[in-house]
Amino acid sequence: MLLTIDRRSKKPIFKQIVNQIHQKILSGELAPNSRMLSERELAKTLSVNRMTVVRSYDELQSLGLIERFKGSGTFVAVAHKRDVSKLTNWTTYINDNTFLTTNPIIQKIREHSRTMTNGFDLANGELAPDLFPSNLLEAIMRRISISDINLGYSPPEGIGDLRDSLCLSLDSRKSIKTTSACILITSGAQQALYLIANCLLRPGDVIAIESPSYNYSLSIFKSAGLKIVGLKVKKDGIDPKEIEHLYKSYNIKMIFLNPTYQNPTGTVMSSKKRIEVLRISERLRIPIVEDDPFSDLNYGTKALPPPIKSYDDKENVLYIGSFSKIVASGLRIGWLVAPIEVIKKLSDVRQQIDFGLSIFPQIIANEFVKSESYTQHIELVNDLLRFKRDILVTAMNRELKHLVQYQEPNGGFHLWVKLNNKYNESKLINESFNNNLLFMPGSIYGDKNGYFRLTFARLNNQDIDNAIEKLKLIIEKAT
Ligand SMILES: Cc1ncc(COP(=O)(O)O)c(C=O)c1O
Repeated sequence: MLLTIDRRSKKPIFKQIVNQIHQKILSGELAPNSRMLSERELAKTLSVNRMTVVRSYDELQSLGLIERFKGSGTFVAVAHKRDVSKLTNWTTYINDNTFLTTNPIIQKIREHSRTMTNGFDLANGELAPDLFPSNLLEAIMRRISISDINLGYSPPEGIGDLRDSLCLSLDSRKSIKTTSACILITSGAQQALYLIANCLLRPGDVIAIESPSYNYSLSIFKSAGLKIVGLKVKKDGIDPKEIEHLYKSYNIKMIFLNPTYQNPTGTVMSSKKRIEVLRISERLRIPIVEDDPFSDLNYGTKALPPPIKSYDDKENVLYIGSFSKIVASGLRIGWLVAPIEVIKKLSDVRQQIDFGLSIFPQIIANEFVKSESYTQHIELVNDLLRFKRDILVTAMNRELKHLVQYQEPNGGFHLWVKLNNKYNESKLINESFNNNLLFMPGSIYGDKNGYFRLTFARLNNQDIDNAIEKLKLIIEKAT
């Protein structure tokens, strides 16, 4: 099977493979029932990563073009004895659009996490189920009387009561002064990022983001056609001066920052830098997006620097918050604080795309934020995460000291770990799958310098020691 890979093409390699095999099946060059090269053979022939071929074969299989049989191999599907030239070519629809698919490594990790039994998930960035306030939310749900609720569409900007409650909470917890009219309720922080990237910017615009940076925002930005330039993350956040350099070279249109317990590095930007970044953005007249889902998770002894938004008296900062990391990711409650005209524009977009969020999570979230239990719950989550962090760090110091380096976090739930020795990332990932221990390799955050991210919010305390012993074996095999 002769395939050619154009490494300079913008089309991802896996798509080039899918499209060419698809054409060969359509043209009859690959006959129904004929045996295909194995994933390993094709990867070797094309000098590409085996995961790339796996992804191509996954897609060809989902299109019904090939069939895989455990133990006997991969075959061109028999169904294609039909006149396929009269069938819709779904590959073109699926592949030739502007929305990129998720990085195949992340897809594989997610899939493995869903199907894995008796494994250790240090990849998933969610709280463990026993950290969710299930009893408190259940009590709230019992008190809600459905007949008192207007079951029509929610206002696209979110229900007024929740916006009012968030307004008070932002003032008391974060020193952010705003009004309810400047708050948009979103389906998690993720939707706020999506709306900003797609509705306030144009394809071709250049944005500055931290490097390394949260992986799902990377693909959202690329799908929106934005060009990304990186701001290197140091121990206390990015260097504000770099923004000015980037502005001169690329005419950047927006700055995206996750200054508190940054994902993936866990770093906290200093107050001095926060103020400097804000002043620079005002001078250059380019907004900052402050993505802040982790600042309620602070279990160190020191208070955190206030959010950049709390210094913002000129409405230059778009501030994003979320319930995902402190209450429950499945509620899908996030919020954006922005100038009122921006809220109006984005509410109009919400009206067009989904008529706003479901009313039920909004009502539950409102009751929870208003209650005394909200603060108590956050304190409890912090205590439990501190405990998990301590167990993890003790185990890492015992088992991995000679293999890795990392900064002990005082908040959030990520540990950004640097490998001391040269390593092979594909081998590291394969070993992690083989051993049912999942973590996020650094390359998916745009960092190729030998890092990986461990998330410790999801493991049971009893499992942490075993997980780290296993991690030691995995690292030893891949370095
Ligand atoms: C920095 C950052 N921003 C945004 C999100 C999206 O979170 P949400 O579940 O609120 O959409 C995440 C999730 O991990 C994140 O780490």
